[in-house]
Amino acid sequence: MTQRMKPADAKAAKGSITRWLVAAGAAAAILALAWWQFGDAKPGRIDPDDARLVALGREVYAKHCASCHGANLEGQPDWRSRGPNGRMPAPPHDASGHTWHHPGDVLFGIVKEGVQKYAPPGYQSDMPAYAGVLSDEQIVAVLSYVKSTWPADVRRRHDELERLAGSR
Ligand code: HEC
Repeated sequence: MTQRMKPADAKAAKGSITRWLVAAGAAAAILALAWWQFGDAKPGRIDPDDARLVALGREVYAKHCASCHGANLEGQPDWRSRGPNGRMPAPPHDASGHTWHHPGDVLFGIVKEGVQKYAPPGYQSDMPAYAGVLSDEQIVAVLSYVKSTWPADVRRRHDELERLAGSR
């Protein structure tokens, strides 16, 4: 014979299920937040085919990069020789420069933390670091925009470099 729950027991059982669900929900929310904060440390992928990212990157480029790297990514004149201040001028970001020789992780690191990250100690550079100025997404966007301007064969070579570097 099946025992029917008395109404008071049923209410208590329902109450404990509700409490359990609330606790589980809170735990899931905390996990999700932790994952968002720390788990996905790698920012999104540079993607020259993502129209939204490229459009955002075009704006970021015009506002933050064009003054040195040129409105058409042409770089500063005579960019291969040191300027009067002893520092390197801004190189072009188009296919004539060497931006595409670096994998995405390195480009991201240069923009976020400055070329010092990859240079010998004490290296002086006019390239600003954009940590605290641009979000990770804005940096990925500007690099996506830059890559979107490269001819197909240069893009392909960069894809290959990314594959070899095991990065984005
Ligand atoms: C104040 C001038 C200036 C601004 C603004 C500037 N850069 Fe630079 N950037 C430089 C200079 C100068 C270098 C060369 C650094 C060196 O070799 O010492 C450089 C180098 C770089 C490199 C390395 C390129 C390579 O081929 O090795 C990248 C990538 C880069 N900049 C991206 C950016 C992006 C993206 C922005 C905008 C968010 C930006 N820069 C804004 C001056 C600037």
